[in-house]
Amino acid sequence: MTQSPVVPPNPSPWAHQWRLREDTIYLNHGSFGPPPEPVRQARAAWQEQLDRQPMDFLVRRLEPAWHEARMQLARFVGTSEDNLVFVPNATAAMNIVAASFPLASGDEVLLTDHEYGAVRRIWERAARPVGAAVRIVALPRPMETVEQVVDAIFSAVSPQTRMLVVSHITSPTAVILPVRAICQEARRRGVAVCIDGPHALAQVDVRLDDLDCDFYAASCHKWLSAPFGSGFFYAHPRRQSDVNAVQLSWGVPPPREPSAWWEEFYWSGTVDPSPYLAIPAAIEFFAQVGLDEFRRYTHALAQYARRRLIDLTGLTPLVPDDPQWYGSMAHVPLPPGDAASLQKTLWEQHKIEAPVVSWNGARYIRVSCHLYNNADHIDRLIEALGVELARE
Ligand SMILES: Cc1ncc(COP(=O)(O)O)c(C=O)c1O
Repeated sequence: MTQSPVVPPNPSPWAHQWRLREDTIYLNHGSFGPPPEPVRQARAAWQEQLDRQPMDFLVRRLEPAWHEARMQLARFVGTSEDNLVFVPNATAAMNIVAASFPLASGDEVLLTDHEYGAVRRIWERAARPVGAAVRIVALPRPMETVEQVVDAIFSAVSPQTRMLVVSHITSPTAVILPVRAICQEARRRGVAVCIDGPHALAQVDVRLDDLDCDFYAASCHKWLSAPFGSGFFYAHPRRQSDVNAVQLSWGVPPPREPSAWWEEFYWSGTVDPSPYLAIPAAIEFFAQVGLDEFRRYTHALAQYARRRLIDLTGLTPLVPDDPQWYGSMAHVPLPPGDAASLQKTLWEQHKIEAPVVSWNGARYIRVSCHLYNNADHIDRLIEALGVELARE
């Protein structure tokens, strides 16, 4: 299938803010998103304060800085700071939901077949001991309309379904799911929804109050490019009284006692809190770039990658060529073959980092496009894939 050519964007003027290794073509911001210089510097400045006088920093200065960072993040994701807490990653957030959510024998937790594998494991561990079940609903292939996706999900909801776990943007397939419509229908039916959102921050608008989900799990160290080890957990006010801290500590410094739900999460044991405190620097960085400009650039590059991959393979992606369905990641099927070995070869022979995934019996490549990526990176990927696919 040959389509009309897509003109790639000129390299972004923000690319120099990243100091990636020069031997690497890094097309995997979606798995692990390196921070730009201003974020690295902000983190280093917080670490400096911690390392030079830990007592003064942890006992006296941390609390106001933590509140300020949380307030800025809350503003960025459209909710009140009292609805969210910092956690190291989306995985930690999902574990909190699974450990807190009341499940009983016969209850069902419904996940789509595009969910992250570890998320499925988390819910299986929560369900098994109480006699609840995890069910998987297959989404339509290809996906073409919001109604089609919502109908597929809710045709699998039964009177036993207590919880629906849905990615905002899926990991193995890079699809932007219609979470707003899904949450609306779930509310109508009285089913709780946990959105797994680590890919969403910066790629798409996240407005938590408007979304009206019950829980939201996110990592800030993907597209938002905050330091590694920064994420958040959101609980809607209607759910906060159910939430338990998985890792119990003081919550708030004694002799105070935690009273609000989020106070159990302020102090969960000693950690380096610099990743959380540097989140505002990442938000500020994106304010300077402009979120619209970030999305325009990265989507244009992802669209270029997608078109070139389709031209190479002749295969059809899971979603239409529309920013409603994909943002900064191109996702295209590859001919059948060993996914792990192709990913290894791309790195070892071509110094390209891009995940090749085996999903539902087929092989796909996911190409992340951030501000430091450019058309030359995509052209080199296409050239390398041309060589390796011909060899298989
Ligand atoms: C959809 C999805 N959920 C959860 C995770 C886990 O994120 P983290 O490792 O930051 O906890 C990932 C990581 O890639 C993901 O893609």
